Amino acid sequence: MTDFAATRAQFHLPAGLIYLDGNSLGPLPRAAVARVAKTVQDEWGDMLITGWNRAGWMDKPMSVGNRIARLIGAEPNSVAMGDTLSIKVYQALASALEMNAPRKVILSDSGNFPSDLYMAQGLCRTLGEGYTLRIVAPEEVMDAIDDTVAVTLITEVDYRTGRKHDMAAITKRAHEKGALTIWDLAHSAGAFPVELARAGADFACGCTYKYLNSGPGGPAFIYVAPRHQDRARPALAGWQGHDAPFAFDLDYRPATGVERMRVGTPPILQLAALEASLDIWDSVDMAALRARSLALTDQFIAGVEAACPTLTLATPRDHAMRGSQVSFRHPEGYAIMQALISKGVIGDFRAPDIIRFGFTPLYTTHDEVAQAVAILAEIMAKSLWDTPEFKTRKKVT
Ligand SMILES: Cc1ncc(COP(=O)(O)O)c(C=O)c1O
Repeated sequence: MTDFAATRAQFHLPAGLIYLDGNSLGPLPRAAVARVAKTVQDEWGDMLITGWNRAGWMDKPMSVGNRIARLIGAEPNSVAMGDTLSIKVYQALASALEMNAPRKVILSDSGNFPSDLYMAQGLCRTLGEGYTLRIVAPEEVMDAIDDTVAVTLITEVDYRTGRKHDMAAITKRAHEKGALTIWDLAHSAGAFPVELARAGADFACGCTYKYLNSGPGGPAFIYVAPRHQDRARPALAGWQGHDAPFAFDLDYRPATGVERMRVGTPPILQLAALEASLDIWDSVDMAALRARSLALTDQFIAGVEAACPTLTLATPRDHAMRGSQVSFRHPEGYAIMQALISKGVIGDFRAPDIIRFGFTPLYTTHDEVAQAVAILAEIMAKSLWDTPEFKTRKKVT
């Protein structure tokens, strides 16, 4: 069992705020302050370049990857850290396409995050020769997997609606049709138990600044199934993924295993912040996390539906199809979210009409959910959102 009061106590949560946006940027783990300071002062400050050996910086992408592996049901030594999620999507796609030649179709869905689609479009343009991205509705993915598809590129949880795909079923279908799978776990890792190995997933990638609380700009991760690791050739063949980076060979020779997916110098300060967060995660039972997440999201859905009849639920009611966020639609969603933020309830808005709330069991409580519902109900009942101030769009929504 997990003591969620104890995990909550390990985060800095500003007084007077109800933070329901940990699905976008996780809060600061208290221990990260000292951890990053130590890395700055004792390692960067005193060790200078010797930190790469003496402080083990060079091994961090793999040692931290192994800690993430438990949270996503991955085998040991199958996860490497570094770069951003967009880059990792590109890398996974390029490798999968090469492995599944001569097929040329990438299958994705319209609920995918745009950056994944842009990466696929850019790669198709670079490869030419008939490579294409096929985009279907989320409900149509299963039927759209046919024997022309080289690879499926699916974000497991839709960033707008919180709708969750069935990873095991899609992976099975893809394999039956001879396709490979890439799973984007941006809204899955740390949101609920993920079972990559059990599902037989081929590739996966995700970010750490959301549910995993590594801070703004924290590094991404990539997973390559052990059976593919020595066949997957990185298109972004950087020196840190070379078999012998300090041999400085003129030709690229991939490292063994998933380490070949490393590209350049790892972000040591961000990895230090992430390690502080993973210390908290070490005490978390993933089944308990899922049970609490569903209880929090159920409570919010029931409360808002009872109190706010003009908001339309965009998130599936079915637990099996729900991530750890709840979204509602309203044509004035942006202004409603601004009104909520002004009253200390932080969620976010996704165009065209979605207000989005993340439920993060490590620190969100049932009390906070009840308070957030009450504040939202007051805003809706009194139309407190209906002011020019709340309708003026900021750069980040
Ligand atoms: C599902 C998904 N994929 C990809 C990205 C892009 O991530 P990054 O900006 O780290 O490249 C995001 C960002 O929020 C995302 O939510």
